[in-house]
Amino acid sequence: MNQALEKLIVHQSSVAVLGLGYVGLPLLMEVSKKYKVVGFDTNDGLIAQLKDRLIESENILVTSELEVLRSCTVYIICVPTDVLADKSPDLSNLVEASGSVAEVLKYDDIIIYESTVYPGCTEEVCIPILEKSGKKLNQDFTVCYAPERIVPGDNKLSLNSISRIVAASNDKGSEFIYQFYKSFITADIHVTPNIKVAEAAKMVENTQRDLNISLMNELAIIFDKLNIDTESVLEAASTKWNFHPYQPGLVGGHCISVDPFYLLHKSRSVGHEPKVIAAGRAINDYLPLYIVEKIEALFLTKNKSLKGSHILVYGLTFKENIDDMRNSKVVDLIAHLKNKEAHVEVVDPIVQIRNDASGKIPMIDISKVKGTFDLVVIAVKHNIFLSLGHEYFYNLLDEHKILFDLKRIIPIEHRGKFEYWAL
Ligand SMILES: NC(=O)c1ccc[n+]([C@@H]2O[C@H](COP(=O)([O-])OP(=O)(O)OC[C@H]3O[C@@H](n4cnc5c(N)ncnc54)[C@H](O)[C@@H]3O)[C@@H](O)[C@H]2O)c1
Repeated sequence: MNQALEKLIVHQSSVAVLGLGYVGLPLLMEVSKKYKVVGFDTNDGLIAQLKDRLIESENILVTSELEVLRSCTVYIICVPTDVLADKSPDLSNLVEASGSVAEVLKYDDIIIYESTVYPGCTEEVCIPILEKSGKKLNQDFTVCYAPERIVPGDNKLSLNSISRIVAASNDKGSEFIYQFYKSFITADIHVTPNIKVAEAAKMVENTQRDLNISLMNELAIIFDKLNIDTESVLEAASTKWNFHPYQPGLVGGHCISVDPFYLLHKSRSVGHEPKVIAAGRAINDYLPLYIVEKIEALFLTKNKSLKGSHILVYGLTFKENIDDMRNSKVVDLIAHLKNKEAHVEVVDPIVQIRNDASGKIPMIDISKVKGTFDLVVIAVKHNIFLSLGHEYFYNLLDEHKILFDLKRIIPIEHRGKFEYWAL
């Protein structure tokens, strides 16, 4: 048996998971079915909540105290890797978490990074921090990379059924990481020749999706200006054997709208200014403004002005059926509407916050929606909105009946009754 696995199984040492968010918490629970685990997070409030929810058991301990990690021999780092205001990588959490592990690092320990990073980041940024412990990579400790692929809100794809990519800094590490993930994941596990390949592969996954959607968004804009229905065009085009089905739409979230910026950053650092990837990002980021320009133009034809208008938006999250608002383009859409001095209210029963602290996102309870509006925007396809039935939305429209159905939830045969616009 691999020595590092033997420590976990025979000697009952623990696996630490650093960062108990969307990725880390489900991972902690899954790993705890096989091994002793310690969940570590710098957010004391979150740790208190997790303790309250009785997550702790014989196998699970959650803490914000670094010292507790000394009982661990494997550390899995799942901290956020977002972008700064200028869209360059924000590696501060990764640097801090690596520094925490360096403080408790012992000989032969294994550190696994699951956070999404650009190719070379683990070797150039994380390993030097771990080596500040005085220990040397491959001689005293091993580093692995196992990019996360979970899909929040998708009940069909669970953590243990999604195939994984893994990599390590040495052969023993590759053997360990394969066997370790195999012990709690039923799907395939692909070992890459080195860490950079695994980092790059993760970048490709999300960059490809961003670009595919950006092409649909650009096509949707062109066809909109040509007065051609994009949905019908895509339906017709999809009859070709090699057509790839993608839909236009708002691209937000912590992955697809962020990861391409990591690749842009790395590419620039080696002297190549990416054109295609940058263009895809630009189109996807432009979409909320395009929609607002569209609303404004339609209002003009009705002698309406966005200034002082009352607009109701359904859905605030970056995708359906989750409460995650990170980089939600609906938030950008609302900001553009507010720049035009429209009064915007938002209905999203899934989002936990009511009004954000600054009062910038005025939320109303779904049961308190009353009267009619100059415009209703259906921005997110939450099941709860679908369950209301499409007729629900018609009663909210004033005499001009302007309905922006960004997810096309209104049945095709009813669309002609409205000033209907969809992507
Ligand atoms: N959420 C997803 O669906 C998803 C999917 C694939 C990959 N990823 C990647 O996984 C990583 C984690 O994302 P997430 O969505 O789970 O983030 P998250 O924001 O949900 O959670 C991160 C947690 O890490 C904690 N944290 C921050 N700094 C820390 C530190 N120094 N030490 C310990 N804890 C710390 C935070 O308090 C938070 O609880 C990111 O790199 C992300 O790109 C996420």
